[in-house]
Amino acid sequence: MDSLLQALQPLPMTLLFTIPLLFLLGLVFRTRRRLPYPPGPKGLPIIGNMSLVDQLTHRGLAKLAKQFGGIFHLRIGYLHMVAVSSPDMARQVLQFQDNIFSNRPATIAISYLTYDRADMAFAHYGPFWRQMRKLCVMKLFSRKRAESWESVRDEVDSTVRDVAANTGKAVNIGELVFSLTRNIIYRAAFGSLSHDGQDEFIGILQEFSKLFGAFNIADFIPWLGWADPQGLNARLEKARRSLDGFIDHIIDDHINKKKNHGVVEGDTDMVDDLLAFYSEEAKVNESDDSIKLTRDNIKAIIMDVMFGGTETVASAIEWAMAELMKSPEDLKKCEDGRPLFDTLQCG
Ligand code: HEM
Repeated sequence: MDSLLQALQPLPMTLLFTIPLLFLLGLVFRTRRRLPYPPGPKGLPIIGNMSLVDQLTHRGLAKLAKQFGGIFHLRIGYLHMVAVSSPDMARQVLQFQDNIFSNRPATIAISYLTYDRADMAFAHYGPFWRQMRKLCVMKLFSRKRAESWESVRDEVDSTVRDVAANTGKAVNIGELVFSLTRNIIYRAAFGSLSHDGQDEFIGILQEFSKLFGAFNIADFIPWLGWADPQGLNARLEKARRSLDGFIDHIIDDHINKKKNHGVVEGDTDMVDDLLAFYSEEAKVNESDDSIKLTRDNIKAIIMDVMFGGTETVASAIEWAMAELMKSPEDLKKCEDGRPLFDTLQCG
């Protein structure tokens, strides 16, 4: 009994120190939490401003900015968001204090499907992102590289031939340019001349795209994650398994090709270029300018390119075509050989 009392003696001393410490920490956190957010629409408990979620388009946000000012605050579930619309505030965020704001937020789907931000688009701002960007500029998308992309010319030729064969008939430009950019990017990434496996890959991309855009309550109210009413968790796992099955096979083929035949200068695709930096473990060293990429990095970067380079470019081409259809004068200038970029006064 005595020994038990002795053992308990240090306890009051510990409590004497820990209770005020916890109290102080609580006070610090409460004071920090009380720092005011910018103005914004009043929210409901727990869900906050979730009822506004369908208005979070550029038009909806502009409307809210008229009411609450160039910087306003929304709370969607437990997630705090700040919308910036005035030039002064935008300059603060994008220029003067950009190092604080340069990380992108990632939803559960994005983190999972990018192998926990192993790609470039969602990597946090830091040494990996900087080295990865350098690698993109110097190797993957270098001028020399772009010139060697025969595939671009091939695919454009075949699209023009398709249109010519349908002279006098209606052509769905949206579908046509989407399949053009998809074919170009597919060949640039995987180097395959045939379109074997492309349908399977497009199916995987479409599911990724749906999952990236799906509303997941767990992104906003994390403790409701268990509910998963749309069955997103199972779909995420299935989608990533499908991508693994597809790209692992391609990566292995490239490794074997390199082992058997070496790398032929000027005949490499994006997988070859990325494999030149392959290692079991990711490593970045800014002092000697080196980077090592894992298989997950390689897969995630390929996904970035497939997503970043397909719909964006197709939409830009479709937009340019629509502008030209509305303006016969500009169309004439293009037909006379003036570059489209100058004609539409881009930039
Ligand atoms: C008209 C065509 C395109 C448009 C409008 C477009 C638009 C954008 C925008 C707005 C960003 C975000 C930039 C930022 O936050 O600073 C971005 C980033 C990115 N885009 Fe594009 N893009 C286009 C074409 C492409 C192409 C062809 C590729 C790949 C082949 C690509 C790959 C990427 C990647 C990897 C990122 C992330 C870059 C980073 O984290 O630094 N994009 N793009």
